[in-house]
Amino acid sequence: METLVSLQNRLQELEATARKLEQPDEAFRTDRVEPAAEEAFAYARHFLSTLPEQKAFVEDVTTPRLLQQYPVQDEPREASEVFTVLHRVFDNVSLNAASGGHLAYIPGGGLYYAALGDYLAAVTNKYSTVFYISPAAVKMENLLIRWMCELVGYPADKSGGYLTSGGSLANLSAIVAARDAREVKAERIPRSVVYFTHQVHHCVLKDLRVAGLAECVIREVPMNEAYEMRAEALAAMIEADLKEGLYPWLVVASAGSTDISAIDPLNEIADIAEKYKLWFHVDAAYGGFFLLTEMGKQKMKGIHRADSVVMDPHKGLFMPYGTGAVIVKDVQTLWRSNHFDANYMQDAIPYHDEISPADISPELSRHFRGLRVWLPLQLHGLKPFRAALEEKMLLTQYFYHEVKKLGFETGPFPELSVMIYRYVPAHLKGNITAINEYNAKILKKVNADGKVFISSTSLNGEYWLRLAVLSFRTHHTHIDYLLQLLKKIVEEEQLS
Ligand SMILES: Cc1ncc(COP(=O)(O)O)c(C=O)c1O
Repeated sequence: METLVSLQNRLQELEATARKLEQPDEAFRTDRVEPAAEEAFAYARHFLSTLPEQKAFVEDVTTPRLLQQYPVQDEPREASEVFTVLHRVFDNVSLNAASGGHLAYIPGGGLYYAALGDYLAAVTNKYSTVFYISPAAVKMENLLIRWMCELVGYPADKSGGYLTSGGSLANLSAIVAARDAREVKAERIPRSVVYFTHQVHHCVLKDLRVAGLAECVIREVPMNEAYEMRAEALAAMIEADLKEGLYPWLVVASAGSTDISAIDPLNEIADIAEKYKLWFHVDAAYGGFFLLTEMGKQKMKGIHRADSVVMDPHKGLFMPYGTGAVIVKDVQTLWRSNHFDANYMQDAIPYHDEISPADISPELSRHFRGLRVWLPLQLHGLKPFRAALEEKMLLTQYFYHEVKKLGFETGPFPELSVMIYRYVPAHLKGNITAINEYNAKILKKVNADGKVFISSTSLNGEYWLRLAVLSFRTHHTHIDYLLQLLKKIVEEEQLS
């Protein structure tokens, strides 16, 4: 009896403290100000209203150390104190990926309505993995996936997929499905051959390793001068490998390479993949949503013939980081690689007619990614997305022409919205090391200014500056600013 009383007393004590976690519910119920919510919205308001004046990049890796003074502790801190720290460590420190001046790394978006979707997803804590438990969340994701399948041109009856955390994991999922569909089992791996070009995103190599396929034979297919796969070279390599008794099973094409937005000849690769029964995967993590534009559709003809496609909403749909997608022509392939029934999930079994992300992905409990994608698409409609994507392609073409006028060399004409360029001063012609150093200096100077942020890449031992235009906030003024800055820097260098 005494034990029961002390148990109840302890429960009361614990409940009084534990209920503090529910504190905002009461504030909202009674229309009182909720300090953390006020601070968070004030933060967002300040951030967005000052964004045009903020720098895109400020090199600073020391300020964030301030966080060390705020270890996790038993007692709460005041909201005002906590948000002051956030301002200190986030504002004007390092990359500002929300800035229109971010022209460096296939920028990433951060649409405001997506943030509202995330907010509601977290407040309601909707589960989004099993149809039986959360039909609306799963249906929402499935309909978004259906829309992406239509965009690619996949048949409605069998295709499917799911939202991932990004392109790397989406590519991993496609590779695992391909591995199982083509029965690349342990003893076969050292004789199994994978084909792609040097332009393939490095995550594909990482994914092959993670999928247990590091010992596969990797063939880098030669490219043409536009850094696109030479289809006839692919066919010749496959023929040679077959003669050697090897097992060609996977070809990965890029639809928008990260370095220069090259698009491999998808139709020709599809013909070869069909002929030799290879799984045909297209990494369109960056390029995929350009299918929303007429130009993009023309350039990616044949993408519907791929067995699997990766396209990232956190790239071409301007969603916040953490939103990728993998879609496959036959959803059974993802199901075969990922599906499991667990005893404690037996109530969900009658609902297998609607695909649940749990059935086709390695995840179980997961972020409700669908809402952050669905809400902006509903509230904006598709028109501004199409316009923004075409604008980014044209801005890149504009830069291509204008930077040439400044005396810069360029790489191939940009297929989408990434391109390369470099300055070769007359007195350094032929001296690769000096030209590389010269361009590295230009990059340093642009980024020290910080109003725009650029990157570089290395191709055949040559250092190239790189322009990546995919922030929804990047417009004509940002590109003109970069052009003016480049002109000034080159003029200064010539005088020095
Ligand atoms: C073509 C391509 N594939 C894959 C990835 C990797 O995507 P994530 O960074 O979302 O993992 C990227 C990233 O830029 C990419 O451009």
